[in-house]
Amino acid sequence: MSKIRAKISGINAWVPPYILTNKELETMVDTTDEWIMTRTGIRERHILKDGLGSSDMGAEAVKGLLEKTGTKPEDVDLLICATVTPDMMFPATGNIISDKTGLKNAFSFDLNAACSGFLFALITASKYVETGQYKKVIVVGADKMSGITDYTARETCVLFGDAAGAVLLEPTTEAVGIMDSITGTDGSGRNYLHMKGGGSLRPASHETVDNKEHFIYQEGQPVFKFAVTRMADVSAEIMERNNLTADDISYLVPHQANLRIIDATARRMGVGKDKVMINIERYGNTTDATIPLCLWEWENKLKKGDNIILAAFGGGFTWGSIWVKWAY
Ligand code: UT7
Repeated sequence: MSKIRAKISGINAWVPPYILTNKELETMVDTTDEWIMTRTGIRERHILKDGLGSSDMGAEAVKGLLEKTGTKPEDVDLLICATVTPDMMFPATGNIISDKTGLKNAFSFDLNAACSGFLFALITASKYVETGQYKKVIVVGADKMSGITDYTARETCVLFGDAAGAVLLEPTTEAVGIMDSITGTDGSGRNYLHMKGGGSLRPASHETVDNKEHFIYQEGQPVFKFAVTRMADVSAEIMERNNLTADDISYLVPHQANLRIIDATARRMGVGKDKVMINIERYGNTTDATIPLCLWEWENKLKKGDNIILAAFGGGFTWGSIWVKWAY
């Protein structure tokens, strides 16, 4: 019997309409468009309005995905939501998205691997398809980063944006889809990138609010160093172990945290900039949405059989890469 693989058979994304530019940030904190552009490559990011949560963006992305792929909501078996900004501690944002989109027969859960979450969720979902257990699985990455960003802290508030992206996975016996993956975590990295408050260790209190513990804390430089090494290493490793050369690769799809990290990864893989999906300039770091947001924007350029490397690095630390053969 031929091997069942999980193919990506559709992609969609949704970004909120409001755009926060570097120019506007200049009026909020002591920063400049020039500093942000040269250090990060970000010019603007989309921000979700108050009163809405990650599930609202995720639901928009999923609704569009169902429409585009002609999928009936009741036919979806499983939805995995990658997020670090769930609507609430529980229930899972995936449960809420399923409810808002009519996925009555799907079971759903959230997966948290910070900026590597979408990648980890895609790998997890692919296993349910490869075993033959499920036929239609949705992976959605949704993050309202503005909800955990301190807009008085110039070192973090310039980096993040809000968005959601979703893919449909289905089984195939063709040699396309998720071909291989590598993942890693190192929890000792938690000291450099985290949100302290609101969990069981530091439940919300006047003190946690006063200490700004409900905002992202990041030590940029150490995270940068780890990100450059890990993302580049893991991307090179997945190529080597599958005998893929730079010529075989159609696109690198890197997590969009910093243009300099993306450039370093592409250099290490030996792929030219024309083969790298980069849209950080217009969206910033949308955490779990960066990779589907890229695939969505490049969808029309992709051809069946294209070799694509997805790569991510994030809080935890977490990192990983996936070799995908595009299926349509
Ligand atoms: O997606 C999850 C994983 N996260 C990442 O991969 C992010 C990794 N880190 C980074 O991308 C970079 O470290 C940052 C973009 C966060 C910062 O860039 P950097 O080149 O590492 O800058 P830095 O933190 O070393 O700061 C350099 C200077 C400092 O001033 P002094 O001490 O040299 O006087 C900062 O205070 O830049 C200052 N600075 C700013 N200046 C203007 C920090 N933020 C800003 C700002 N505008 N927004």
